Amino acid sequence: MPESVVFDRAAGCYDATRGFPPGVAERVAALLAEAGALAARADVLEIGVGTGRIALPLAAHVRRVVGVDLSAPMLAQLLGKRGGARVHPLRADAAALPFASARFDAAVGVHVLHLIPRWREALAEVERVLRPGGVYLHAADDQAAGGSLGFSPHELVRALGYENAGVSHRKFETCPAEAGFTQVGPVHRIRFARRLAPQAMLDRMAERSWSITWKMSDADLARVVERLRAELLARFGALDREVEIDTGFWVRAYRPA
Ligand SMILES: C[S@@+](CC[C@H](N)C(=O)[O-])C[C@H]1O[C@@H](n2cnc3c(N)ncnc32)[C@H](O)[C@@H]1O
Repeated sequence: MPESVVFDRAAGCYDATRGFPPGVAERVAALLAEAGALAARADVLEIGVGTGRIALPLAAHVRRVVGVDLSAPMLAQLLGKRGGARVHPLRADAAALPFASARFDAAVGVHVLHLIPRWREALAEVERVLRPGGVYLHAADDQAAGGSLGFSPHELVRALGYENAGVSHRKFETCPAEAGFTQVGPVHRIRFARRLAPQAMLDRMAERSWSITWKMSDADLARVVERLRAELLARFGALDREVEIDTGFWVRAYRPA
C-alpha cells in the first residue's frame, strides 16, 4: 500500500507559499462555519491540520479544533503560532484516528484527501468519529485550478503523467459522494485576489514547493519549468512585475451515509 504524502519537507515554506492574503483566513473560517452551520459549542476535528492555516482562524467560531497530521514539523509550526487559540494538534493518521466513535460535531478536510491513498478509509474514520447529524466540510483553494491565471501550473505536471497519491485531481472535489456521503446545501465560495510576480510562480515550481512535483525526475521538472515560463511570458509579457490573480476558496458540506 503506497504511503500518504507527509509534508515534513514543506513545513518551513508552507505558510509563505500557501498562506492567504491579509484578511482572507478570517473569511475562509467564516465560510466554513457558515457551510457547516457550526455552533459556538461545536467540537471540531481537522484531518491534515498542517500548520493550522485553517484551524487557527476556525477556532474563533467553535469550542475547539482538534487537528491531526502525520507531519511533526508541520505540527511544530502550528504550535509556534497557536497563542491562545483553542486548537489541539496530535500526530496521527487520518485513516486510523485515535478517537472514540461519535466524538465530534463536525470534521474538516482541506487539501488533504488527494495526499492519502487510503482516502476512503479516512472518510470512513470521519464517519465513525462524527456524532449523528455531524457534517464533513470538504474544501480547497481554487488556486490549484488556476483562477484567472487561465491555466493551472499543476496541469503542466499532470500532462507528464504525474497524479496525486490519493484521490485523483479529477475526482477530488466530489470524492466524499463517491464514498457514500451526501452533499448538503450549495457549494460555498469566496473570491479574493493574490498579488505576486510570475517569477515567484516559476520559482515555486523550480523549488518543488508543490507536493505533486516531489516525485518528478529532474528532467521532467526542468521541462515543466520551461513550459510554465513560456505560458507566463505569453500571458503577462514579463516575469518580474507583480500581477493580480483572481482566485478563491470553496467548501462543500457532506453528511456521512
Ligand atoms: C496540503 S497540507 C494542508 C494543511 C491544511 N489543511 C491547510 O489547508 O493548510 C496537507 C497536510 O496533510 C498531512 N497529511 C498527509 N497525509 C496524512 C494522513 N494520512 N493523516 C494525517 N495527515 C496527513 C500532510 O502532512 C500535510 O500537513
